[in-house]
Amino acid sequence: MEKIVINNGAINSQILVGEDWKSIFKLTPQENVIIITDENVFNIYGKYFPAYPVVILRPGEKSKDLRIVGRVAMQMLKAGIDRTGFVLGVGGGMVCDVAGFAASIYMRGIRCGYVSTSLLSQVDASIGGKTGVNLGNTKNILGTFSQPEIVICDPSMLRSLPDEEYFSGLAELIKTAMIGNEKLVELIENNHEAILRREIGFLTKVISMSVRFKASVVSQDEKESGLRRILNFGHTYGHAIEMATGFSHGFAVASGMELAADFSFEKGYLSESDRGRIINLLKSFNLLREYKISPARMHSLIFRDKKRSGDEISFVFLRTAGVALVEKVSGRELSDFYKKRVSV
Ligand SMILES: NC(=O)c1ccc[n+]([C@@H]2O[C@H](COP(=O)([O-])OP(=O)(O)OC[C@H]3O[C@@H](n4cnc5c(N)ncnc54)[C@H](O)[C@@H]3O)[C@@H](O)[C@H]2O)c1
Repeated sequence: MEKIVINNGAINSQILVGEDWKSIFKLTPQENVIIITDENVFNIYGKYFPAYPVVILRPGEKSKDLRIVGRVAMQMLKAGIDRTGFVLGVGGGMVCDVAGFAASIYMRGIRCGYVSTSLLSQVDASIGGKTGVNLGNTKNILGTFSQPEIVICDPSMLRSLPDEEYFSGLAELIKTAMIGNEKLVELIENNHEAILRREIGFLTKVISMSVRFKASVVSQDEKESGLRRILNFGHTYGHAIEMATGFSHGFAVASGMELAADFSFEKGYLSESDRGRIINLLKSFNLLREYKISPARMHSLIFRDKKRSGDEISFVFLRTAGVALVEKVSGRELSDFYKKRVSV
């Protein structure tokens, strides 16, 4: 088991990777607790929950909605959760986002923690204290910065994860490796079989490395005013691709990373061989899917990016596999590059 701590002044957030998820019930209060989960996770793991009140959400992005947060808060009120209460999210990124958001606004903020059950949430969504819900088609536009007190990432839970979700999470793991840790890139390249077989020991190691990196970034820049932006590698084009195609998040980010690697090469930041290395790794796990998005549509989608300020977007380029740099580029430059690339 690996313990990683994010220290942001008021709250120490402890992330336990490789810990049996059921130990959460010993590490959190024994009363005044409410569990928030989704149907899929509840059907597999609900039998191990203690007799706490449970809110079971419909799986999927549609549950990331203010009306659902309102219903969750109503259930909390009915269950008698007070200011000293504790919200425990047990699920993937959707559950963590809704549970964390509800906890952060209920009675102006109460304690919370997560059992993070998907690969994407173990390496990304449950770490770092961002919570959020969607508004219409705009993702995560309403949210808070609020650190969970404790997060358990138990890789044995990934055994029940559908392939689509597992590989979507793998793309986020590769993203973290690409921006911050060449050793992690090598481990992923050299342990293809262990990844496909979902070997617990190996997953514990790579998830810990990924969490450690994200924790170090978030500890330095909790509110994304600088360094934290590197975590958006692959996400500028990726979000646009996700909105246009409906690909699972990680697959869209994988295609976004491919475009970002190409753009980094065109700018002269990334060598030809490193570009090949990145794209080969994505291909080796079949993370790059075919899509067709016209340059005009890409342009309008990029302009919807909430990370835009005026015409400028902080774009994450790569220098090598493992080292990123952030540079402001205009939306026009991004759509021109895309246009050039699709016309080749
Ligand atoms: N707050 C953040 O910093 C942050 C960062 C990245 C992503 N996110 C958000 O996270 C969400 C995506 O996360 P996700 O991919 O975990 O999605 P998700 O929570 O919707 O889970 C994906 C699917 O896997 C199922 N599932 C989860 N764990 C399972 C398990 N152990 N066994 C079987 N099925 C399981 C879920 O029921 C769901 O159907 C998006 O809403 C995204 O915006 C948030």
